[in-house]
Amino acid sequence: MTAEIIDGKAFAAELHERVKTETATFVKTTGIRPGLAVVLLGDDPASQVYVKNKCVRAQAAGFFSQTHRLAADTDQAALMKIIKQLNADPRIHGILVQLPLPDRLDGQAVLNAIDPDKDVDGFHPVNVGRLWRGEPCPVPCTPLGCSLILERCLGASLDGKKALVIGRSDIVGKPMAALLLRAGATVTIAHSRSTDVPEICRASDIVVVAVGRPEMVKGDWIKPGSVVLDVGINRISTGDKTRLVGDVAFAATRETAGAITPVPGGIGPMTIACLLQNTLNQAKKACVGTR
Ligand code: GUN
Repeated sequence: MTAEIIDGKAFAAELHERVKTETATFVKTTGIRPGLAVVLLGDDPASQVYVKNKCVRAQAAGFFSQTHRLAADTDQAALMKIIKQLNADPRIHGILVQLPLPDRLDGQAVLNAIDPDKDVDGFHPVNVGRLWRGEPCPVPCTPLGCSLILERCLGASLDGKKALVIGRSDIVGKPMAALLLRAGATVTIAHSRSTDVPEICRASDIVVVAVGRPEMVKGDWIKPGSVVLDVGINRISTGDKTRLVGDVAFAATRETAGAITPVPGGIGPMTIACLLQNTLNQAKKACVGTR
């Protein structure tokens, strides 16, 4: 079997278009423009690119967009002050603090300070709890993108499917497991201490990999016909060139899987589209709250 290559770029473009159209209608009927504030601390090149793309996309969708670029040595108090101001700013419906933050800062305290109703990342403990309880909430953007892709491949119900999430991060692995569970799958979370991961993988109908280890998942770990979502983005050197690869050995896996996301062009493009969808949802919710 040769796998279907899932075109995340095309799917994300559809979602961007939908958000743009819905935003135009929302602005027309309410006079309110969805507002997204992104906070970036320091000058990590990858984070700078991600943040720039978020702002460009937000503006293209018709949002009010702000970027707060803070010096690398910004202290906790100054960062908390900005969060407080954004919480109180009626133009802002979504606040995103680009992660990772430096170890010297208390990142959890920063995320906890964001108003849960403006938490478009879904990282606030209140929203984490809502997600695990199956209540409506902003869903972390990368797992949301994965879920939308799975829904398109397999339908909304994953009843009886065996799903494996490799990676236990708060950004991807844990919320992904919650979403799979909510959709009816039997879920296993594997991580750096897990044993027998290849065997668990060979028994899985759905595999989501988010570990940041280039081509860790091998072709002979894959159950024939399974759906493989690769969240990893790793730059590797080959001779005097570099290229991007995922956490899954793509060429070998596509021989066995039923469907697979490529890197680049798979999950990555979905993330920003989901961020915009979350921000629009929170703007709509805030609008209902004031009427
Ligand atoms: N850094 C990498 N992914 C993410 C994400 O989804 N949200 C935030 N805030 N930072 C990130």
